[in-house]
Amino acid sequence: MSSLAASLVPEVIKKLIPYQSARRIGGSGRVWLNANELEFPIHFDNQAKSYNRYPDFLPHDVASAYQKYAGVETPVLAVRGADEAIDLLIRTFCQPGKDKIVVCPPTYAMYEFCADALAMETIKVPLVGDAFDLDSQGVIQAAKEANLVFLCSPNNPTGNLISQAEIIKVLEGTQDDAIVVVDEAYIEFELAQNAASLIAQYPNLVVIRTLSKAFGLAAVRCGFILADKSVMDFVAKLIPPYPMPDSSATVVLAALSETGLKQVEENTQTLISTRDWFIGELKNLPCIAHVYPSSTNFVLVRTHSGEDLFAYLLKHGIVTRNQSHDPALRNCVRITIGSQSSMEEVISVLRSYPTQS
Ligand SMILES: Cc1ncc(COP(=O)(O)O)c(C=O)c1O
Repeated sequence: MSSLAASLVPEVIKKLIPYQSARRIGGSGRVWLNANELEFPIHFDNQAKSYNRYPDFLPHDVASAYQKYAGVETPVLAVRGADEAIDLLIRTFCQPGKDKIVVCPPTYAMYEFCADALAMETIKVPLVGDAFDLDSQGVIQAAKEANLVFLCSPNNPTGNLISQAEIIKVLEGTQDDAIVVVDEAYIEFELAQNAASLIAQYPNLVVIRTLSKAFGLAAVRCGFILADKSVMDFVAKLIPPYPMPDSSATVVLAALSETGLKQVEENTQTLISTRDWFIGELKNLPCIAHVYPSSTNFVLVRTHSGEDLFAYLLKHGIVTRNQSHDPALRNCVRITIGSQSSMEEVISVLRSYPTQS
């Protein structure tokens, strides 16, 4: 029986024969002269490691270390950040100028950006009410016209989580229509709520992860796609010949080791404590109209209309993210949780914020 993925993927991708890079072809031998690499390394800065050979086509050790961490047996693909995952999934499953995606604003802007760049229409099913709840029925309806649905959980910039029950509702309602991509960039801050284990049951589910947030490896550029084989077979056709630099893979393997994961877990707990302290302090400040609950390493706050909070913090050297351009987020600022001392400084500056009478 043909999979949903196979029925959605454009003919042009189906027919595409992946580029046969030297590492993809593999093989065995003693003298490797097949990839136009430099056969012997030049050791810049006295580095011990050699970088003259192209890296693995797909770094299997990285993928299997992540599989173990995620507690899944479904295929895992390492990519250069969750942003590459978004772009790759759209290019695999949507035909430029023809197919559509569904997003639930306010949410991460890259889903719509990638679709726009390929002349694809984005159907918007806004989050509803003060709690930014998912309109699951609206999403299911819109998915009938689309190939991909992007859900962000926990969501950037609102900070809230979509419950597993809601995700299952969407998966059930879309299983004949669209692939549902759940972007779990911030899931380490609410790990028990992750959707990865649902892939075994719902082959129309794809989960995106990143090491840029809780793992603190934003500069390494490493993300992951977790998906059923029926989906991954097509994604692997479009992946660039050598997606992951060796230098990144080395750091990633250290982060995914037992010691690395313990460090991440401890650090995440500390960050959550700082966040919860920060939220408590914000709630006592007269300039803050609302603090949105957060399942992430940032907090969305709404001020009373008046002097722009973003500009005020900037004047004091504190750079946050202004969200006011979005009509659903008027007077809102997103503040990343940093060290305890940075957050104390933010609170101290906000204590002198001019209050509206
Ligand atoms: C929801 C969400 N998805 C994906 C990304 C991109 O992450 P990466 O650094 O792995 O490309 C971000 C970065 O801010 C994000 O907030």
